[in-house]
Amino acid sequence: MVKEKDFKKCDQAGFCRRNRAYADKAAAAGSTWAAPYSLHPDTISFKDGQLQAVILKSINDADTVRLPLTVSFLESGLARVTVDEEKRQNKDIVLRHDSIARKERYNAEELVIVGGTTLDKEAKVASQDTSSITVQYGPSSNFQALIKFSPFSVDFQRDGVTQVRFNEQGWMNMEHWRPKVEKKDGEADAADGEVSTGEDESTWWDESFGGNTDTKPKGPESVALDITFPGYDHVFGIPSHTGPLSLKETRGNADGHFSEPYRMYNADVFEYILDSPMTLYGSIPLMQAHKKDSAVAVFWLNAAETWVDITKSKAGKNPNSLGSEAETNTHTHWISESGLLDIFVFLGPTPKDITKAYGELTGTTAMPQEFSLGYHQCRWNYVSDDDVRDVSRKMDKHKIPYDVIWLDIEYTDEKKYFTTDKDMFGDLKGTGEVLDQTGRKLVVIIDPHIKNAGNYEVVDQLKEKNLAVRNKENSIFDGWCWPGSSHWIDSFNPKAIEWWKGLFKYANFKGTMENTFVWNDMNEPSVFNGPETTMPKDNLHHGDWEHRDVHNLMGITFHNATYQALLSRKPGELRRPFVLTRSFFAGSQRYGAMWTGDNQASWDHLGASVPMILSQGISGFPFAGADVGGFFGNPDKELQTRWYQAGAFYPFFRGHAHIDARRREPYLAGEPYTTIITAALRLRYSLLPAWYTAFFQAHRDGSPIVRPLLWTHPGDEAGLAIDDQFFLGETGLLVKPVVEEGKESADIYIPDDEVYYDYFTYDVLPTKKGKSLSVSAPLEKIPLLMRGGHVVPRRDRPRRSSGLMKYDDYTLVVTIAKDGTAEGELYVDDGDSFDYEKGQYIHRKFTLRDGVISSVDAEGRAAGSVKPGAWMKQMKDVSVDKIIIVGAPAAWDKEEVEVETEGKKKTVPVQYVKGKSGSYAIVGGLGVPIGADWAVRV
Ligand code: NOJ
Repeated sequence: MVKEKDFKKCDQAGFCRRNRAYADKAAAAGSTWAAPYSLHPDTISFKDGQLQAVILKSINDADTVRLPLTVSFLESGLARVTVDEEKRQNKDIVLRHDSIARKERYNAEELVIVGGTTLDKEAKVASQDTSSITVQYGPSSNFQALIKFSPFSVDFQRDGVTQVRFNEQGWMNMEHWRPKVEKKDGEADAADGEVSTGEDESTWWDESFGGNTDTKPKGPESVALDITFPGYDHVFGIPSHTGPLSLKETRGNADGHFSEPYRMYNADVFEYILDSPMTLYGSIPLMQAHKKDSAVAVFWLNAAETWVDITKSKAGKNPNSLGSEAETNTHTHWISESGLLDIFVFLGPTPKDITKAYGELTGTTAMPQEFSLGYHQCRWNYVSDDDVRDVSRKMDKHKIPYDVIWLDIEYTDEKKYFTTDKDMFGDLKGTGEVLDQTGRKLVVIIDPHIKNAGNYEVVDQLKEKNLAVRNKENSIFDGWCWPGSSHWIDSFNPKAIEWWKGLFKYANFKGTMENTFVWNDMNEPSVFNGPETTMPKDNLHHGDWEHRDVHNLMGITFHNATYQALLSRKPGELRRPFVLTRSFFAGSQRYGAMWTGDNQASWDHLGASVPMILSQGISGFPFAGADVGGFFGNPDKELQTRWYQAGAFYPFFRGHAHIDARRREPYLAGEPYTTIITAALRLRYSLLPAWYTAFFQAHRDGSPIVRPLLWTHPGDEAGLAIDDQFFLGETGLLVKPVVEEGKESADIYIPDDEVYYDYFTYDVLPTKKGKSLSVSAPLEKIPLLMRGGHVVPRRDRPRRSSGLMKYDDYTLVVTIAKDGTAEGELYVDDGDSFDYEKGQYIHRKFTLRDGVISSVDAEGRAAGSVKPGAWMKQMKDVSVDKIIIVGAPAAWDKEEVEVETEGKKKTVPVQYVKGKSGSYAIVGGLGVPIGADWAVRV
């Protein structure tokens, strides 16, 4: 189990303890609490959608600290509140210990935000008096920010109703810079010119944990704010944590509450525990609040260690809202160790509005390498070239599809990245070529720690060019990781990224080729002998920023460096990178996939993977998976089989195992398991066109790839917190993986009045809105439903890899809705290059209406408007071969139907099957080009 005591609790992190104590003090004082932050009205200016002013923090009767405030109203409908510290903006502070660290507060914008920040010039001051100012903004000017001066607070309103409220409880706190007064013997610490406030100063100037001391050259500098969501019962997001999708309360010791805040401080948490607010490997500080038909969110842009407390209160009826019952208010308290106070506020009202606006801000999922949606076979470790080839052979022998074999750290020569163990992997290139024959790929691991050893060119260059992370003394930082003594590439440094790119050139990284891709692990960063298994906070990065300020960005910067490197492996070769990362932050979705780290081969961990992946999806980083089978330990065959069935519905689908775990490639499972696992893999492969289309939608507008009910059915209150079932993209496919031992049925919650069919039998199911449907699920069955009203694209011919399916024909599954219609999309491109940016893609919209199934260009592009490149030319020969009409009415009960395409008409045969619980029709031999307009008339 995780050594919990290796990781801090809130009261062991000075700034968290201080801010919780501050909140307690305010709460205890109740209405007599005098929050010390006031906006100075004379300092207000408003121009071009931006308000500027100064907040004064009173520190005693005579003194104040000036905190410049900017409130930006954005065209995207977001508002952004930024608070800085004037003295630090002016670098007018003195650092202790002769530190050369930067004096300003860190602004994470540069590495995170990629768009959506255009100011809304239409935003205007609606009213102003001596105590407040109101700004009107948003899509139809129906948003308002009501900024109260003293104490400073902001109400964000939609249609006159407050949805998000800043500093309602007066817990805002910016620990301003102060010089340390060296104490005389026996005196308590105090800052110059300040009387001791009775605050806990013991952690202001240095802090020790687990034998490491943080020297804190800037002293206390935390930022904190309480954010209330009035009338909202559920909050979601701030991954990555285990536990339910609907976040728990973190104070009050009541049953079902956590006693610790949710923590975001990316860390290598060995054998993490379930149902816990402990930090994990990556963080996205985006939180959404949901209630029936309304969703809002805040994005806390801060890369330092952050804790979030959540409490709920039953309030009297919100006087502004309709309805009469008492409502729940959710209160959150955000606490970061350093940096700016910088928050974006989203007023929805739909979850789609939030994911879209968040995607504009931080970027959307990169269009993936198509192969990366297939199955990945990994373990720590495949031990040799022969081993890899043998696994590949056996997968083929058993007719088990897969796309990628992965090499973990042991392929290197003594953990020196960019080298290979010559005895075991003397012919890596040859291995790559063997895989290439069946369209397969190789992924190799490259970590950010560089072995500090003689005779290793990479470390020599790193040192010589001065591109490594530095310690507080400004010399190269040395720590311990897999290779022993190591240095870390400072991936914040653009020059380090340039150097990194060079290392991946085919000529330099020997043995790699066009079908080699990369896995970035340990990039939190993991430092075995560091505080909490990571770097000391007083380490220094590019620009002399302290590690403390940028810690949560280390993962994304390294991921980005590798992404850039894969883009430039060979001049003239521009292909989509595939890079898997363990650590991440807001924006990491632009560079590849993530997985949930070192889980265990247990049923609990299988169950926990589902809400974790759903949380990634609604938080802008949907290309997510968990180690199938469980990393630590040995799953029994039932667990392994159920895990493959669940994994077939993870956006990132990889089997992986610890070095001490027994071999468990699917063909080793034996019967009936191998056959059942193979069926799950085949199901995944046949649905790849639907998956790819869902990825495209995620790329287009930030939509999750697998979607919880809170996202698909925001109007169904009872479904908001359901986190063990989900839809795949817009396909209407609803899956509920079995995650319990011996379970042979599943209760699937039905969120609407639509008709639902069984995926495998096409039976109409006896569903009722708001009720659960029990479906039988013996081991060989995945509980999978089809919602009426969709068209699902598939490729049904079984093949060994996705690459071999590239030019296969399609099957369309049309599920008829109650009103007799259906609709769906297919997006397809070459799956490898960036030519889709130049229009080299096929994007179809399929519709069933009035007995006609038709296909048109989804974007209204005229036929021939794009000059076809090589891939599009080949696609001319790819057809829709078959349409399955599920829930087909008697009108389809005929011998043949008419198909019209490109001005020509023909008839094709229909097979109509009248079932006891529903009928279906199969239209075969269509042969209509996938890229062309066509219609099938009954
Ligand atoms: C830790 C990773 O989480 C795991 O997946 C990997 O196998 C080991 N590091 C070894 O590289």
